[in-house]
Amino acid sequence: MGDIRESAAGKAEEDLSLITRRRFLGYGSGLLSALIGIALGLPLVRFYVGDTFKEREGRWLRLGAIEEVTAGQPKLFRASHVDRDGWRQTARRESVYAVTQDGKDYVVFSNACTHLGCPVHWDDSAQSFLCPCHNGGFNIRGEVTKGPAPRPLDRLEHKVEEGTLYVKVMGG
Ligand code: FES
Repeated sequence: MGDIRESAAGKAEEDLSLITRRRFLGYGSGLLSALIGIALGLPLVRFYVGDTFKEREGRWLRLGAIEEVTAGQPKLFRASHVDRDGWRQTARRESVYAVTQDGKDYVVFSNACTHLGCPVHWDDSAQSFLCPCHNGGFNIRGEVTKGPAPRPLDRLEHKVEEGTLYVKVMGG
C-alpha cells in the first residue's frame, strides 16, 4: 500500500514538473513568436507611417531674383515643388506676392484669400489685392479693406540670399 502511495506521489510530482516545463515552453515560444512578429512588422509600420508624426520642417523654395521686385509694386512669383509627407508625394504649385516699400525689407504673402482660399490678384488701379470670389480686398500690407475675409493675407517665411528670394514651404 505504501509503495502505491509513494509511486502515486512520485507520478504527481513528475506530472507537475512536466506541466511546469510545458507551461514554460509555451510561454517561451509565445514570447519568441511575439518578438519575431515585432521584428518583422516594424519595417512595415515604418514604411506606411514614415515621418507622419515627425514635425515637418519645410524647405526653401527659390522664387527668383530680388531685383524683379520694385518698390510699391507687388510682384507675383510662381514656383512648383513636390511635398513629401511620409510615403505620400504631392506636386504643388505655389503662387505668392513679394512686396517691398524701400528695396531693403520684403514681405511675402500667400495669394490665397483668407476667407475661402480663392486666389487674390494685385490690381494697380485699385492699389489693392482683390479677391474675385466674394469681392474681398486687401491693401499692400495685406490688411483686409473690404469683404468677408476674417484676417490679413498670410505672411510667409522668406529669405534673400545672393540676390535671390526664397520662400519656406512644407515638404521634404
Ligand atoms: S474667398 Fe475671397 S472673399 Fe471669399
